[in-house]
Amino acid sequence: MAVAKEKKAEPIRLGIIGSGLAVKWLHWPALKKLTDKFRVVVCCDIDPEAAGEVARLAEKDLNSPDVRSTTDYREVLASDDVEAVLLSLPIHLTGQFILDAARAGKHVISEKPLAANLEQARELVETLRNFKNVKVEIAENYHYRRDYAKAREWMDAGRIGQPFLIQMISRSWTSTASGFSSTPWRQDNQYRGGIFADAGVHQAAALREIGGEIEQLQAFSKSVHPVMGGIDTVVLNMRFRSGALGNLVFAGAAKDPNGGLQLFDIFGTTGAIQITGGKAVLTEGNGKDAKVLEEFVDPEHDGGYFREFENFYSAIRENAPVVSTVEQALKDWEIIMRALDSAEARNVILL
Ligand SMILES: NC(=O)c1ccc[n+]([C@@H]2O[C@H](COP(=O)([O-])OP(=O)(O)OC[C@H]3O[C@@H](n4cnc5c(N)ncnc54)[C@H](O)[C@@H]3O)[C@@H](O)[C@H]2O)c1
Repeated sequence: MAVAKEKKAEPIRLGIIGSGLAVKWLHWPALKKLTDKFRVVVCCDIDPEAAGEVARLAEKDLNSPDVRSTTDYREVLASDDVEAVLLSLPIHLTGQFILDAARAGKHVISEKPLAANLEQARELVETLRNFKNVKVEIAENYHYRRDYAKAREWMDAGRIGQPFLIQMISRSWTSTASGFSSTPWRQDNQYRGGIFADAGVHQAAALREIGGEIEQLQAFSKSVHPVMGGIDTVVLNMRFRSGALGNLVFAGAAKDPNGGLQLFDIFGTTGAIQITGGKAVLTEGNGKDAKVLEEFVDPEHDGGYFREFENFYSAIRENAPVVSTVEQALKDWEIIMRALDSAEARNVILL
């Protein structure tokens, strides 16, 4: 009995496949707080320097001794000392790597989106049903955000009456000089949908977290950015199954003097909720008569990365349910892919 308990508390032996920007900038701060739960044993990248750099960082920051590095992901999947893998790869590779990892019997936490297009995503979800002993989590951090969860809680408690309009704006300029969009695979658009697919899938997750399932949508799209391939500007209208109407304005090529905007407004028959970067505000009334009923500020707002890794650990060690499952990720991806279909075919789509 004592042995079983000890085994349960052991850190998960992790292989990292794809040692790029998201790992260093987004996963690292979360993993640094979870050194009792994850032990990195190997890092992989086709670029040996990238793999070596992250391996050394893991030794320094993540209480992980003697981390190996390799350029061959199959070596990671064949390693007996690897229990789980973190996949953080160019989007067009993700689906195949998830499947290969599951076939090798490794638990998987993989960056979003789960595949390069809708057909591949659907096939993947279907095939993964055969791998019941393997936990697969898609690291869609928006499914782990506390500000969205709080807004949903207020809505479920009837605090804004009947929600009837959900509006979201995600507006920014995509710099290609440095940062995520300096990566060639993004600029060449080696997956369907460009910036709208890569970044917009987060907004799809957010809209579903707040509004529930979407039953009908219609979109207009444009490609404006001078460097980035694919779609960067979309106006997406939707109706939720609840009957509420919704609208997403996604702009990835907008040079905004205010440096961009991320805004969520939810209107109900008796009140409203506004969410901006970790803060949710519940109000009642209009104009000068409006008053704030409650305010929620996530004290640890990190976009949800910490909680996604925590969930992965508890799914493996404590058999907790995975929150951001492949089925959830497929629904997020479906909204983005069908929005592109709608814009191309100029029609309204029933989901
Ligand atoms: N959740 C978020 O907020 C967020 C933000 C940025 C990126 N992402 C996701 O993270 C993933 C990675 O994005 P990134 O910005 O880190 O890209 P990146 O290009 O910086 O990192 C990807 C790495 O994968 C490596 N790679 C390519 N082919 C490989 C192969 N066959 N085997 C092993 N390694 C290989 C590349 O050399 C590169 O180092 C994408 O899925 C992206 O959508 C998520």
